[in-house]
Amino acid sequence: MKIGVIGTGYVGLIQAVGLAHLGFKVVAYDIDSSKIEILKKGTPPIYEKGLKELLHQNRERIIFTSSVEDLKGSEVVFVCVGTPQDAKGKANLNFVFSAIESLKPLLTGKEIVVLKSTVPVGTNRKVQKFVGNKAFVVSNPEFLREGIAVDDFFNPERVVLGFGENHPKWVMEKMLKIYEYFLKKEVPFVVTNWESAELIKYASNTFLAMKISFINELARLSEKVGADIKDVAKGMGLDSRIGNKFLNAGIGWGGSCFPKDVSALIWQFKEWEIEPKLPKATKEINEEQILWFLNKIRKHYGGNLSGTFALLGLAFKPYTDDLRESPSLKLAEMLIEEGAFVKGYDYIEGARKNVKKLVEVKTSTRYSYGLIVCDELKTAVEGVDGVIIAVEYKEWNRENWKEISKLVRNKALFDGRNILKEELIRELIKDGWHYEGVGVKPK
Ligand code: UDX
Repeated sequence: MKIGVIGTGYVGLIQAVGLAHLGFKVVAYDIDSSKIEILKKGTPPIYEKGLKELLHQNRERIIFTSSVEDLKGSEVVFVCVGTPQDAKGKANLNFVFSAIESLKPLLTGKEIVVLKSTVPVGTNRKVQKFVGNKAFVVSNPEFLREGIAVDDFFNPERVVLGFGENHPKWVMEKMLKIYEYFLKKEVPFVVTNWESAELIKYASNTFLAMKISFINELARLSEKVGADIKDVAKGMGLDSRIGNKFLNAGIGWGGSCFPKDVSALIWQFKEWEIEPKLPKATKEINEEQILWFLNKIRKHYGGNLSGTFALLGLAFKPYTDDLRESPSLKLAEMLIEEGAFVKGYDYIEGARKNVKKLVEVKTSTRYSYGLIVCDELKTAVEGVDGVIIAVEYKEWNRENWKEISKLVRNKALFDGRNILKEELIRELIKDGWHYEGVGVKPK
């Protein structure tokens, strides 16, 4: 079976490579010919663990192309283009509709068009109306986490499929055939209508963001009342109805999904004239959290942030080069605005490179001359007035803190992800460090 994929970003590329690995012949199309050229050479334009190897392994089963005609003859076409938020926070569907528009002339009435892009409720129905009887539209939201997206592709916790009420039976049968590998692995399938499938995606992401915002808000209270948020989260998480995941307090959530999806869900509530109380609070708490953390740092320096800081971690989470809505970079901007000089470091080379590109744009006043990217942790911490952990790499624990102690000018450590282990924190405090986490009490 020939399968088409439109869009070779995080979602599309992994879908294409993953399906090729499952044995399908895949045509991966992207409007961006420079991206296609890179892919033709066998290099993924993004960093994702295991992706390069998987791409090499399945190279002969994928055709990368920037001419849409090559999608002709695909029985199923997955649409994996971006749905960024517009100025109001609403999902922008221009990429989805322009993809469908260019695909439409190639459709013969027997194809399935699968929307993998995260789209507001009602979009699959609109796309079906747009393609008319030239194809059958199916909703199949993705739940890939960046950094472990390849693993998530092969080991999903669920597969969600949304169909139109008038779809013939073979449409579902074909979708189940494509995902037979997961059926055999006994992955739960949720087979439902378009609207429910669309809402499952927004609800899942907003719920996860809400869990984080809840624990972050609680961290502020913990600090006031003398509780330790790590213990609180542990105690809560042991209740299987709550679960221990996504309860790590920190400087807030970012990335390519949570911010835009929470905003888009807020917008959808508003369109139906329902007050989006929890999604709104989720977003507001996240916006405040970083300011709250900055305030903690500011307080330590008596209100004056004109020193030099090492910023550990640059991307929006570990093991990715993706800088979209990175809380770390937001913090950098805020520090610089208050007169600080920031030396950033990230374990992932791609993340460092991407920040360097941002800094090099001299016309951008965002970082002006207040941010430099270091290729070594040693250089980043040398002579600084404070060290800030902004991304939750466990690896920070394994660094040589004795050496770091000698390199910094001032032993102040702000762990914005509560990632350092108690034992290390105790040692650091003994060594004269000032340690501050998020809602924690060093024991
Ligand atoms: C998310 C969803 O998890 C995934 O299912 C969906 O398909 C896309 O959006 P991703 O954006 O890759 O995935 O990141 P995720 O691991 O969910 O983390 C999002 C943000 O939350 C990061 O900035 C992370 O640092 C933060 N986070 C996560 C916390 O602050 N605390 C936590 O406990 C967990």
